[in-house]
Amino acid sequence: MDLSIIIPSYNEKDNIRPIVRRIHEAMASLRDVLYEIWFVDDSSDETLEVLAELAATDERVHVHHRNGERGLASAVVQGFKLAQGRYFIVMDADLQHPPELLPAMYERLKQGTDIVIPSRFVEGGSDGGLGPFRKLVSWTARVIGQIALHRLRRISDCTSGFFGLQRDVVAGAELDPIGWKILIEVLVKGHYRTVHEIAYSFLARDAGESKMSMHEQWNYFRHLVRLVSQSPSDRRFFLFCIIGASGVIVNEVVLSILLYGFHMKDTMASILASLVAMLSNYIWNDQITWRSQGAGRKWNVKLPIFVAISLVGILITTLVMHTCERIGLIVPIGQAVGILVSTVWSYVMNNRVTWRE
Ligand code: GDD
Ligand code: MN
Repeated sequence: MDLSIIIPSYNEKDNIRPIVRRIHEAMASLRDVLYEIWFVDDSSDETLEVLAELAATDERVHVHHRNGERGLASAVVQGFKLAQGRYFIVMDADLQHPPELLPAMYERLKQGTDIVIPSRFVEGGSDGGLGPFRKLVSWTARVIGQIALHRLRRISDCTSGFFGLQRDVVAGAELDPIGWKILIEVLVKGHYRTVHEIAYSFLARDAGESKMSMHEQWNYFRHLVRLVSQSPSDRRFFLFCIIGASGVIVNEVVLSILLYGFHMKDTMASILASLVAMLSNYIWNDQITWRSQGAGRKWNVKLPIFVAISLVGILITTLVMHTCERIGLIVPIGQAVGILVSTVWSYVMNNRVTWRE
């Protein structure tokens, strides 16, 4: 078997026949390619009857029905277990993912690319199938995912439900997704080197309705937290942020002690408090964040570098704040953007220089 097309379905009775027909039409351009279509179905309406009828007459169509179970991502994982192909392509049942893209995806996989992702967000692609609110939610979800997980960073459409992969990418991986976003699970836990994105237009639905819900957004968040906690390098960035935030508390406490306990002048107290906070951040980061790294180098090398990076960070915060102010944002918002940029700067530099392996 060359290709397995895996389709999660939940109450899609009017979409099943059209999608199978369009898959066959699209695949007709690829001669001699053996392919199968796996529906992993959790439906509670007549979808299952439609699927059973099709499977009885079309030898390429297979159905796995799960009783009482729900979940898009876990359905796809089930599909990976059932599929026989060398290559897998996952797509939705509702034709928002155009089957006409299958041959191009297949060719790319055959050339050896490990993961192929049709993308709404590369040049030539479009996200026309979503309303403005869903677009905003989807954008936010992507950005949060890309901040949290470094393996998503270079992928423009990492939350897509449409992608192809070599069977080997997930063969030994322990996939354990929560909710919908099977692709982020594959990108974080899969074994791969090359990812290619192809532009496409995400179309509006003709029949049935979206099953996206607030509950799925919450599941996405839980899924991200789980993936971060399972991935050492991503966990590191979070520890760095938490320690950075704890530094603010240290800073304020020391400041209060110096001001009210020692009656120190405010400028002096402020500078000293910042230095103590910086030292505290250094110690925590050395003992926790980069515990397993930077061994063999002494504190008298690491600490000055850490301080230099932090001072440049302060400079960056101020510069960004001023830039934001110039384009019309208020100072506290500009400062927040500045803090974000300088946090990323300090993290990357400390990772590459201070505690480099
Ligand atoms: N087996 C199973 N179980 N399938 C499900 C379930 C479930 O619990 N929930 C949804 N599905 C199926 C739907 O039948 C459809 O084929 C597909 O998963 C996507 O569901 P939609 O309800 O159409 O989602 P959407 O269009 O709002 O969002 C989709 O497209 C986006 C862009 O690619 C999803 O795939 C998103 O994850 C994706 O970002
Ligand atoms: Mn859809």
